[in-house]
Amino acid sequence: MYRNSIVVLCAVLTVTSCTEDLTFPPGFLWGAATAAYQVEGAWNASDKGESVWDRFCHEHPEKIADLTNGDVACDSYHLWKRDIEMAVELGLHFYRLSISWPRLLPSGFSNHISEDGKNYYNNLIDGLLEKGIEPFVTLYHWDLPQSLQDLGGWANPLVADWFVDYARVAYTLFGDRVKWWITINEPLIICDVVYNSGLLAPSIISPEVGNHLCTKNVVMAHAKAYRLYDEEFRPKYHGKVSVANHHIWFDPLSPADAELAELARENCVGKYSHPIYSKTGGWPPALEKALGDYHSKLGYTRPILQPFTQQEIEYVRGTYDFYALNQYTSRLIRPAREGETFGPWPFADAIQLNAKTQADKSWPTTLSFWFFVHPEGIRRQLVWLKQQYGDIEFVITENGLSTQAGLDDHDRIDYYKKYLRQILLAIKEDGVNVTGYTAWTLMDNFEWMDGLSNKFGLYEVDFNNPLRTRTPRASAHFYRNLIKTNKLDLGFVQDEL
Ligand SMILES: *[C@@H]1O[C@H](CO)[C@@H](O)[C@H](O)[C@H]1NC(C)=O
Ligand SMILES: *[C@@H]1O[C@H](CO)[C@@H](O)[C@H](O)[C@H]1NC(C)=O
Repeated sequence: MYRNSIVVLCAVLTVTSCTEDLTFPPGFLWGAATAAYQVEGAWNASDKGESVWDRFCHEHPEKIADLTNGDVACDSYHLWKRDIEMAVELGLHFYRLSISWPRLLPSGFSNHISEDGKNYYNNLIDGLLEKGIEPFVTLYHWDLPQSLQDLGGWANPLVADWFVDYARVAYTLFGDRVKWWITINEPLIICDVVYNSGLLAPSIISPEVGNHLCTKNVVMAHAKAYRLYDEEFRPKYHGKVSVANHHIWFDPLSPADAELAELARENCVGKYSHPIYSKTGGWPPALEKALGDYHSKLGYTRPILQPFTQQEIEYVRGTYDFYALNQYTSRLIRPAREGETFGPWPFADAIQLNAKTQADKSWPTTLSFWFFVHPEGIRRQLVWLKQQYGDIEFVITENGLSTQAGLDDHDRIDYYKKYLRQILLAIKEDGVNVTGYTAWTLMDNFEWMDGLSNKFGLYEVDFNNPLRTRTPRASAHFYRNLIKTNKLDLGFVQDEL
């Protein structure tokens, strides 16, 4: 199924006699990403509203590994000119940023638009475009207005209306210049990880109900924002809209677990992608049945994963212009044994599937507890997605490595080489139409529950310096060279920084 002949050949031959084609397709787009709460700081500047992350970090500092928060972070609210400079230094084609909903709409509702919030994003967008860099904008990267959380947040079906009102404001203000939109970043984290584990804001633990209510509301919110763009803004602006899902690749621990692994893929990815990208729409049938059985065993008398009406199935189906894929890691899966206990799915277990997950012993660990390096996973994921949803356009919207501090990050360069090589194989051997790649992340930032000590950046940020000095790592030089040549240099070594 995976034709590895070229890889094998290259492994045994010297580099010069190797025939592996390491060039990316012409016009391939290269970018880097950040998210508002992770970089902006200025949490209470001007009339900005409070977000669930402001509230969570202030009320529960003990839940962040190093007791830090995003109050200042990279201070990009003030240092955005430097951020653009870094994008120029790297030669990025696009910069993926997110808008803070409570910065633009302090009350959470569209009754009042913040002038300062609007100006901030206008400056950033215009500044990028002046340098020939496309703004690639995410509407929602986890910083829900606290005012809306107080009304139930993602568990309240009305959130889809609140979200589409916000999307309308953003399309109206910025749509003339922004041609790439992501509605929502990683529903899997917003619903499953938040409600299963409480590790992230708003830290409401409701692993039987809240996660599943959230799932349908997130999908509907995305679909509404897509339909709005399609009907009212696309005719003028001709942009592209999608949702960025988080992908964990699952392989069976033993061949007997193949069906379970497929169910785990549906539970992690299909739950959020099948309604949108599949030909039939709706929930993945096997998963809907498995979750129905799970809830009736627990004594619930109605489905907790809310069914779609036929009308909703049609409304949601096809609400994409490309497939946006965030991918970092993989797991092996097996059925749980009698009496085994479960951790917060999906990073440890899959309680709804009565299954346990683990990493292979050969997969290197990283600084993030959930993250094991498995480059082949991204290729298998891409092939699976093409098999499921057809020959559509794929953009990798996040991929990167977390490490300790330090400029000499050869581990990060090695990670990028290995993952990008697998992406090339998916393109060339498997015919997957990947048209762009986004490094997570442009610079070290506030890494959610891991705080500031867990580094993903191409640029190092000095968080002890009031000026938040940004310095390129070896990987920044690697990435700049990659973009310039559009070719993966497996021998790339950066001797001088
Ligand atoms: C904003 O928050 C900081 C703490 O991060 C605090 O010192 C400052 O007084 C606050 N400013 C306003 C205007 O509330
Ligand atoms: C990939 O998708 C893009 C965007 O839809 C399209 O222009 C291009 O022709 C596709 N490439 C291939 C090889 O199918």
